[in-house]
Amino acid sequence: MKPYVAILPGDGIGPEVMAHTLKVAEHIAPDLTFKTGLIGGVAFKETGQHFPKATADLIDGSAAVLFGAVGGPVEQQHKPQWHNCETNSILALRQHLQLNINLRPVHFYPALALTSPLKNERFAACNDFVILRELAGDIYFGDKSTVVENKQKVARDVAEYNEGQIKSIAHWAFKLASKRRNHLISVDKANVLQSSQLWRQVMEETATDYPNVKLSHQLVDNCAMQLILKPEQFDVIVAGNLFGDIISDAASALPGSLGLMPSASFNPSGFGLYEPAGGSAPAIAGTDLANPMAQILSLALMLEHSFQRHQAARATHMAISQTLDDGYRTSDIFCHGTQLCSGQAFTDEVIHRLIQITEKKNDI
Ligand code: IPM
Ligand code: MN
Repeated sequence: MKPYVAILPGDGIGPEVMAHTLKVAEHIAPDLTFKTGLIGGVAFKETGQHFPKATADLIDGSAAVLFGAVGGPVEQQHKPQWHNCETNSILALRQHLQLNINLRPVHFYPALALTSPLKNERFAACNDFVILRELAGDIYFGDKSTVVENKQKVARDVAEYNEGQIKSIAHWAFKLASKRRNHLISVDKANVLQSSQLWRQVMEETATDYPNVKLSHQLVDNCAMQLILKPEQFDVIVAGNLFGDIISDAASALPGSLGLMPSASFNPSGFGLYEPAGGSAPAIAGTDLANPMAQILSLALMLEHSFQRHQAARATHMAISQTLDDGYRTSDIFCHGTQLCSGQAFTDEVIHRLIQITEKKNDI
């Protein structure tokens, strides 16, 4: 049987950016088969569950998963459809697939120099960098409880790491750093947290296997500041689940918008799930204002890592860069003198360029 890709559009802007992305896929990977499943609030509405068994079966038979976003409006969190939606869907999915490595690339498009919050000289000095976020442990998956003690509610989320979990991402991080500029920055809060002290110790131990890679450490609060003050210093950042979540949102804003950042998550056997780093943005869902770049670039990451189609991934990147170079912008990256587009119109421009690029394949 031909392996298929499981498509999980989810909630909010998920379905619209996914629809645009599948149009890109028709051009760049016309032979791939896609099967769509339900996840998140939309799944709850249909089946009473955020992550139905049918969806688990669908992904279990798939070659890779392309995921959109889940979750509802903040003011509706009390409704059963949205209550714990993220935990029951995306976190359950990560657990189901045992995804422990999350790769979040930060790419500086020259065309977005004016959109970036960075000053021009700083923007020009920036290099692309990558955040590797541990995805299976930490405060996300430690014991949780809400109890009444001394007549008041007490809520707990335990931040926990074992050596094996840290070792696994450490090797990924060092291997990645040795394929790039041999500089790894590990982020923790080792001045106060025991889980961070273990994190740092395992990073140091693993470093001895990779003598060419220079390892340095940054406390997470300092890292947040360094991202804003001196982003050009980064090449590969490795961080635990919570710190990686926070610093990757901050880092995504440097090139211009969270809507630019794709992500790839892997389990120890190399199975991949690909999703935008941003969320479901319910406030703009249905308006086609959302930037489809993060979803399209997640498709490119999937083509590269799960299907080894490097040329197709590269062509997709080129088409997106050219679309930006030619001045087309969704509202999140719009600035004076550029052409404001809907998600659909932006995607049409990308596809137009993709066709031209793939027609003269030798240039890729
Ligand atoms: C992300 C998201 C998720 C996370 C939420 C939706 C659970 O913020 O993928 O970065 O915290 O991991
Ligand atoms: Mn996040």
